[in-house]
Amino acid sequence: MGQGNGKKRPRVLTGMQPTAVVHLGNFLGAIRTWVALQEDCDCLFFLPDMHAITVPQDPNELRTNTLAGVAAYLACGIDPDRSAIFVQSQVWGHAELAWTLGCHTPIGQLERMTQFKDKAARPGAFIGAGLLYYPVLMAADILLYDADRVPVGDDQRQHLELTRDLAERFNAIHGPVLTMPEPYVAGNCSRVMSLQNPAVKMSKSDGNGLATVFLTDSDEQIRKKFRAAVTDSKKEIRHRGDGSGVANLLEIFSALAGLPVADVEKRHETSSYGAFKDELADLAIAVLAPIRKKFFELQKNPDHLLQVLERGREMAQPIASATVGRINRAVGFLELSKGGETKL
Ligand code: TRP
Repeated sequence: MGQGNGKKRPRVLTGMQPTAVVHLGNFLGAIRTWVALQEDCDCLFFLPDMHAITVPQDPNELRTNTLAGVAAYLACGIDPDRSAIFVQSQVWGHAELAWTLGCHTPIGQLERMTQFKDKAARPGAFIGAGLLYYPVLMAADILLYDADRVPVGDDQRQHLELTRDLAERFNAIHGPVLTMPEPYVAGNCSRVMSLQNPAVKMSKSDGNGLATVFLTDSDEQIRKKFRAAVTDSKKEIRHRGDGSGVANLLEIFSALAGLPVADVEKRHETSSYGAFKDELADLAIAVLAPIRKKFFELQKNPDHLLQVLERGREMAQPIASATVGRINRAVGFLELSKGGETKL
């Protein structure tokens, strides 16, 4: 990272909570974009396990899912030679910076975050203070690495706005210490909807077993899910911008094939829904089968995955430590080291 022709490349930071197997929505809406960003940017891709524990987690499952997350990143094309891949809890500084930022965050602003309100409204949910603090920790993740660009989905936009507010407030008080991050929104298909209910996002925790295509699904499972996908009550394969099942399938097709939706419509002008779905399943299998194969191979060798994380940590830690040092000096924490700029 950071080498090259002397021109500074933008720094990208993003991550996905390691709470279950990665699915088609994660791949098309996020990871595929991350893979492409490696060409022109210095990238840090991490697994926010400290965010995961803002809701109750089984410890063994969290460990397993974190390692599986690394395998998924690699299988999808994240290159550990070019990008840092690391686990949030393994780099020191995230919680440190979150504390200091939290001291600069109006509590009302956190209480008004839509994701917090949604999670806190779930009946019977345990609402830990971590849930309220979640966006502050996310701001710390971003600001810790002086990230220029942060690829996030729509549901995380508000958190990124808060991050920008915090950076601005902190810099206004303490001088220009934090880098202002910009959201990065990928081209098309940033939202893959459930195959069973196009009104909700494809999700790893959907109760309907046919709603979500996972990276670990067999060819037969993928085909079955696309065949069972809801369409609409019309007959034509047209994107009417109505949020229907057909519109969702067209967008998935377009994203997988790398073709504009209009081209896909044209190609299927006279197709039946059944024939369209079959071709879509073929396409999904062609894209996902090699990823699945790689994922299972990687999972057989956890030592290799741990080595990748060790390397990632080695890339990330110096950046994180430098930022914490800068922040600590800015807020007035006394330093013991002689090399510091402490003035008494
Ligand atoms: N909150 C993000 C999500 O659930 C995950 C995340 C945590 C993140 N820290 C981040 C994403 C920093 C981008 C940058 O999707």
